Amino acid sequence: MKIKLIIIICSWCYFIQTKAAEINIQSPNKIIQVHIQQQKDGSVWYSVSRKNKAVILPSSFSFTLTEPNVLLQQFNITSIDSSSVNESWQPVWGELKNIQNNYKQLALTLTDKNGSGIIIKLVFRVFDDGAAFRYEFPKQKNLDYFIVKDELTQFKLAGDHKTFWIPGDFDSNEYRYNTTKLTEVDALKAVKDETAISTQFPFSENGVQTPLMMKSDDGLYINIHEAALLNYSAMQLVIDKKTLTLTSQLVPDAVGNKAYLHAPEVTPWRTIIVSDKATDILASKMILNLNEPSKIKDVSFIQPQKFIGVWWEMFNGKSAWDSASGKHGATTANVKKYIDFAAKHGIHGVLVEGWNRGWEDWFGKWKENVFDFITPYSDFDINELTVYAKARNVQIIAHHETSGAATNYERYMDTAYRFMIDHHQNTVKTGYVGKIIPRGEHHDGQWMVNHYTRVAEKTASYKIMLDAHEPVRPTGLYRTYPNWMACEAGRGTEFNGFSRGNLPEHETIMPFTRWMGGPMDYTPGIFHMKLTQFDPNKKEMVHTTLTKQLAFYVVIFSPIQMAADMPENYEAHLDAFKFIEDVAVNWDDTKILEAEPGDYVTIARKAKDKDDWFVGGITDENGRISTIDLGFLDTNKKYEATIYRDAEDAHFDTNPEVYVIEKKTVDSKTILKIKEAPGGGYAIRLQKL
Ligand code: NOJ
Ligand code: CA
Repeated sequence: MKIKLIIIICSWCYFIQTKAAEINIQSPNKIIQVHIQQQKDGSVWYSVSRKNKAVILPSSFSFTLTEPNVLLQQFNITSIDSSSVNESWQPVWGELKNIQNNYKQLALTLTDKNGSGIIIKLVFRVFDDGAAFRYEFPKQKNLDYFIVKDELTQFKLAGDHKTFWIPGDFDSNEYRYNTTKLTEVDALKAVKDETAISTQFPFSENGVQTPLMMKSDDGLYINIHEAALLNYSAMQLVIDKKTLTLTSQLVPDAVGNKAYLHAPEVTPWRTIIVSDKATDILASKMILNLNEPSKIKDVSFIQPQKFIGVWWEMFNGKSAWDSASGKHGATTANVKKYIDFAAKHGIHGVLVEGWNRGWEDWFGKWKENVFDFITPYSDFDINELTVYAKARNVQIIAHHETSGAATNYERYMDTAYRFMIDHHQNTVKTGYVGKIIPRGEHHDGQWMVNHYTRVAEKTASYKIMLDAHEPVRPTGLYRTYPNWMACEAGRGTEFNGFSRGNLPEHETIMPFTRWMGGPMDYTPGIFHMKLTQFDPNKKEMVHTTLTKQLAFYVVIFSPIQMAADMPENYEAHLDAFKFIEDVAVNWDDTKILEAEPGDYVTIARKAKDKDDWFVGGITDENGRISTIDLGFLDTNKKYEATIYRDAEDAHFDTNPEVYVIEKKTVDSKTILKIKEAPGGGYAIRLQKL
């Protein structure tokens, strides 16, 4: 049931501003405080504190517009409105059955002091786990069209925090995370370290991406990101190392503008999540709460699911996307093998990459008309496979790699989605590898942000679920578009196949960074860590133990989870694969049990509409003992725990595929202690007896 309470507490006007104004807003439990101050010059400043500890020191904002040509920095405050909301709502799918949205709001109406007459609303929402604000451009008297040259929003930090960051690339989030003091961030070096990416894309030299995770010396965990990124460019943060101030930098378009707005319009929310416990950061629902409710009325077609796919074999050298390669993966016979495996093990989907013509030309040529998304290669019999999959209750997942040509994709979308429906497909994985067409646009700029939204809306109109690779990183929009199941927008498993890979700490940082905004199609479930299976000279490897791969199905929240390895590698470990068969992809409850960014994460989740709980624990390159307090189980009930853990001698680098599976009877008073190997982890299924 939805309980909504909006109280207008006060509303008044300041006509002539003679002295600086000061206003405070507190979160419902009074732990978080936002202090707003207006200087005599008309500039507006805000600061954030938690239990009287400074989180953001006084920070200001300005907009530079080129159309009309104005700097918006000095204002008259013409009204102040306060309100509060305390409601609960139910996501279509998610980590919790009910989500509480509880905040105090303050909206300042600001009129440009310097004659343009432009009005902006600055709206703050203060939650118990942080604060957020956005700018609104209401309908104006004379002009309603703005070109934003810059939005300079400041976040002045109270210390030189430990920071988990990736560089400010305008096109990619696919980096390893760096952990340094803020003053030691070197974005240029981080880009140079990833030659595959840096040779293609421009970036901001002093910039870092959000979600940006920080930890202060006095133990505050601070996360800065944005929510509801629609019709605007993504926000990056530029660090001023002298003043420890982060300033927003929006991703530019082909001519250097940052956004085109037609009032009434709102910017995304700028979010600051803060706690003295790392687990609270992962439990926060603030970003989701700041997004609008679902725009999709009939959500019956939206089904969380697991899938396998003709995919990893393109990374380990067994096959290729391109049919002329002599080792084409998407052949009718090979896809049948995957369908058979899926049917046998209760896996819903089979992704097929390389099924359509165009892969000879797909990468690095910046060519527009590479794919039409409807013409299969001749050795892929789509009609036969449609019948074959349907008879086995399996669905083929479509793959639409655009090779960055968003314009071409927009031309084909309707045709391609009709083709999917005709072939009994209701999930599509899109991809935007390489430079974007329209040329000069960036993956994270306003043009592409609008493109991804159009794709979400268009797929919804065909009752298709969407999994977008290489889009802008998520900002909680899956609340508004629940058919937009997952995004890549980060460095996934694939990097282990063609680069120095992901470090063991990677997935202990991702929950605090990339995953704050929404589900990632991380493609977990690799069981064979060395990639020498088909090419003895291949040096790459996956830097985890096998049971850490199982833990990912709980630690990583996504309603669409790939079991990314090949059937033959699963056949060799069917006892461990059983966990992937059993694990849920949609949840009624989630408990963050242990977490420290860069070190370890342990999460328990209750399967949707079932009594089963699942627990996943992962660690970085250091082994550790994880302590799992099962106090979340129903009291006075016994459960059977099936534990998949690292063997005593397991090690991500030297001995990754050894594990132990054991069963124990437990209850809500049990405290389990499980040893995680270096680069390891464990997974537990808890069934009520
Ligand atoms: C990159 C995607 O992340 C990957 O999953 C896909 O296989 C390739 N592009 C080809 O589209
Ligand atoms: Ca570490």
